[in-house]
Amino acid sequence: MTRILHRQISHSYPVAATARGVIIHDSAGKEYIDASAGAAVSCLGHSHPDVLAAMHKQLDQLAYAHTSFFTSQVAEELADDLIAHAPKGIGRVFYVSGGSEAVEAALKLARQYFVERGELQRRFIIARRQSYHGVTLGALAIGGREWQRKQFGPLLIETHHVSAVYEYRDKRAGETVEAYGARLADELESKIDALGSENVIAFVAETVVGATLGAVPAVPGYFRRVREICNRHGILLILDEVMCGMGRTGTLHACEQEGISPDLMAIAKGLGGGYAPIGALLIQEKIFNTVAEGSGAFLHSHTYMGHPLACAAALAVQRVIRRDDLLENVRRQGDYLSRRLNERFGNHPFVGDLRGRGLFQGIEIVSDRGTKEPFDPSYRLHARIKHEAMARGLMIYPMGGTVDGTRGDHVLLAPPFIIDSATIDTIVERLADAIDAAVAA
Ligand SMILES: Cc1ncc(COP(=O)(O)O)c(C=O)c1O
Repeated sequence: MTRILHRQISHSYPVAATARGVIIHDSAGKEYIDASAGAAVSCLGHSHPDVLAAMHKQLDQLAYAHTSFFTSQVAEELADDLIAHAPKGIGRVFYVSGGSEAVEAALKLARQYFVERGELQRRFIIARRQSYHGVTLGALAIGGREWQRKQFGPLLIETHHVSAVYEYRDKRAGETVEAYGARLADELESKIDALGSENVIAFVAETVVGATLGAVPAVPGYFRRVREICNRHGILLILDEVMCGMGRTGTLHACEQEGISPDLMAIAKGLGGGYAPIGALLIQEKIFNTVAEGSGAFLHSHTYMGHPLACAAALAVQRVIRRDDLLENVRRQGDYLSRRLNERFGNHPFVGDLRGRGLFQGIEIVSDRGTKEPFDPSYRLHARIKHEAMARGLMIYPMGGTVDGTRGDHVLLAPPFIIDSATIDTIVERLADAIDAAVAA
C-alpha cells in the first residue's frame, strides 16, 4: 500500500528506478522512451554527466543559505546568464521553484508595479480560454481549463477570458490567417475597452499553448498586434513560457519567433531540465526600476527562492545546451519529427490535425476527420492512449478537453533536445500502435 496521495488515487504507478539519456527504467526492469520529457521538462534527458557534476560540486560548497541573509555566487551567475540571453529590455530575474510560482509572482509584480505608480484602481487580468498557467489560486484563476477551475470558483480572483488562437477549429472558411489573428486581437481590445483600460493590469498568454491545446502556436502577426494593443492601453503583457520556452520550440524563448518582447515572462520546466525544481520570472527594467525607486521591495518571497543547488543545475543545463548547440538539434530533429508524424498520421482516419514547433508537437485526435467531431469524452480516449503507450514503453503527454475544456483529445510530444532520428522513428511507430489500440479498445 502507498502512503502517497498520488495524482490518480486508484492508479497503480510503476516505480521509476533509473534513467539515462532518453530512457527511464522502472523497478521491474521495463524500459520507457521519454518522448515527452515528462511534461516537457527533461530537455537534456536524464543523468547528464555535466549537470550531475555541477550539482555535486555545488553541494560540496553550499547547499542552502536563506535569501533574506545572503545571495550566492551561483544564483548571481545564473541570473547574468539568463539576462544575457533574454528578450529585449528584460534586465532582472526573480527566482521561484516552479511554473505556478513563476506565474503567481508575475501577477503580483504586475499589480505592485501599478500600485507603485499610484494606479490603485487596476485590478483586472485578461487571459485566454484553453490555456494552462498552473494550479495555485492566481494561476488557476487565469487558466482557461474550466473543469479544473470550476470547483474552486469561489476562491478565485476575477479574471476575464478571450479566445485562444486555435486555427484548426476557429479560423473561418475563407478567412486568411492574418485576418483571423487580427480578429482575435480585436477581441482582446474590445475586452479591454469593456473593462476600461485604466482598470486592467495585464494580458497573459502562453506563447505556444502546451498542455491544454497540444502545441498550438499563434498565427503570424497575432502577438505583434497584441503587443501594440497592450502598449496603446498601458497594459502589461505577461508571457507564460513555462512549457514552450527555454529552447523547446527551437529558439531559447518562443517569443523570439513572434518578434516581440514581453513585460514579464514566466519560465520553469526546461530551465532546470528536471534536475532540480526551479522557475523564474524575467522582468523588464522599467518594472524593476519602478519598484526600486518606489517602495524598494517586491512584497513576495519564498523560502527556497534562488536555491543554490537548483541554480547550479539550471546553469549547467543552459551551458550544455549552448556548448553542444542543442537548439540546432531541436530545429533539425523537430523538422524530422514533424515530417515523420505527417507521413504516419497525415491520412490517419482519427488524426484531425498535426501542429507544433521544434520538439514541441501536437496531434489532435477526432472521431471523424471531415466534421472534426471529437470522441465522446466518457470514452477518455486520451487516458487510453497514455495507457497503451506506457504498455509499449513510450512516455507521451495526452490530454482531454482540447475543444472546449470537456470534449476533444490530443497527444503532446516533447522529447529531450538530445533525441536522434532513429529514436524518433521508434516513437512514431509505438505511438501509432498505441493510438490504434486505444481507438479499437
Ligand atoms: C504553461 C504552463 N504554465 C504553468 C505551469 C505550472 O507549472 P508547475 O506545474 O511547475 O507549477 C505549467 C505546467 O504544466 C505550464 O505548462
